[in-house]
Amino acid sequence: MPTSSESPTSPGLFEAVVNLCKRRGFVFPSAEIYGGIRSTYDYGPLGALMLRNVREAWWRAMIQERDDVVPIDAAILTNPKVWEASGHLATFTDPLVDCRNCKERWRADQIEDVCPNCGSKDLTEARPFNLMFKTYVGPVEAESSVAYLRPETAQGMFVNFLNVLTTMRRKPPFGIAQIGRAFRNEITPGNFVFRTREFELMELEFFVPPADSPRWHEYWCEQRLAWYTRYGIASEKLRLRPHEKEELSHYSAGTTDVEFAFPWGWGELEGIANRTDFDLRAHQEASGTSLEYFDQATGENYLPHVVEPAAGATRAMMAFLLAAYDEDEIGGERRAVLRLHPRLAPYQVAVLPLSKKDTLATLSREVLHRLQRHFMCEFDETQSIGRRYRRQDEIGTPYCVTIDFESLEDRQVTVRDRDSTSQTRLPIEDIVAHLLGCFDT
Ligand code: GAP
Repeated sequence: MPTSSESPTSPGLFEAVVNLCKRRGFVFPSAEIYGGIRSTYDYGPLGALMLRNVREAWWRAMIQERDDVVPIDAAILTNPKVWEASGHLATFTDPLVDCRNCKERWRADQIEDVCPNCGSKDLTEARPFNLMFKTYVGPVEAESSVAYLRPETAQGMFVNFLNVLTTMRRKPPFGIAQIGRAFRNEITPGNFVFRTREFELMELEFFVPPADSPRWHEYWCEQRLAWYTRYGIASEKLRLRPHEKEELSHYSAGTTDVEFAFPWGWGELEGIANRTDFDLRAHQEASGTSLEYFDQATGENYLPHVVEPAAGATRAMMAFLLAAYDEDEIGGERRAVLRLHPRLAPYQVAVLPLSKKDTLATLSREVLHRLQRHFMCEFDETQSIGRRYRRQDEIGTPYCVTIDFESLEDRQVTVRDRDSTSQTRLPIEDIVAHLLGCFDT
């Protein structure tokens, strides 16, 4: 049994997790063999699996388990008229200052009038820097072919509001949800994958009758906070923080952030904004297309208000990893363990034949194939069983299934639990049902 857990605290925790991510194939610096590209990362095999699970967990809670939300998957390259109408071209900016001494550039609101690199106070006046990545569509680099990579997925949902309303026969309150890449030319990316220029968003635009938006805002704050605890973050590491008026985005009448206790302090995981009818009104005016909803019950036309929970998938993955990382001692030996929720772990089950001998091969493959129909599995037959358990603990695999020589006689296998390290002997015929029961949250 594991003994008293002595988890590293910040900043040791941050280093331990970043190190683990690189060493075990969660996250690699992008194009590392060419020296990388600043603050850009590639998700390795385990990172790709886990990021997919984070998306799945969000999709399950926000779409699958509800009857009032539908998904879309809109284009990343967007007509500039969208960003003109949404206000992003004019106002999606951060204040940029240059250090005249060392020539570094900083976000004025993140430094205290002193260059963090050289300590000089000789800084330029702050000027607005637009965060959108600009590109050209087609072979001619002209003003008429400018397009932008989306800095948020939200606009794809606003411009498709009418399409979804009519094709899906919806009426407010209902939501459109989307997961996808977003791009922001951040002045100072950093803290590993916390702030990057390319990242993944999971956004819901929930359209409601105008008078109901405060109630729905409260509802979504509670729902979203509960999602993080459901998937394993302790509630004392989370908080809701309403924005001060000066912090509000140009479209928001009120935003509350879900924050996580990162090793460097509280940081945003997600913003839940009351966007009012800002976006639909802007697109209605700019496009000349009415985006009003006709309420048959009251005989009124109105522009729905929008409550938007917007979460970062890559940032959430980092928080789940930080919250899950633990070190304890088993039988006098120190182990690193990721206590990830079973649905978030890269592999749900590791299948481990006790020996590499051919006699166990057929049965082990049979067990593997049974489990693979339901779970992401790893098959590992090298080194001692103890080392293999340690390897799985370190990447968060919640269950290991071991096939031994007795299994050939009694068709039973051992299921080992990552957190308690307890072992249960079960008939091969029962393990799928047993494990499905363990995952059912
Ligand atoms: N549509 C609203 C919107 O995009 P946001 O607060 O700018 O809101 C939502 O972004 C979430 O996206 C943030 O709470 C954060 O988790 C994530 N996010 C934002 N910028 C990011 C970046 N540069 N790198 C990684 N994640 C980021």
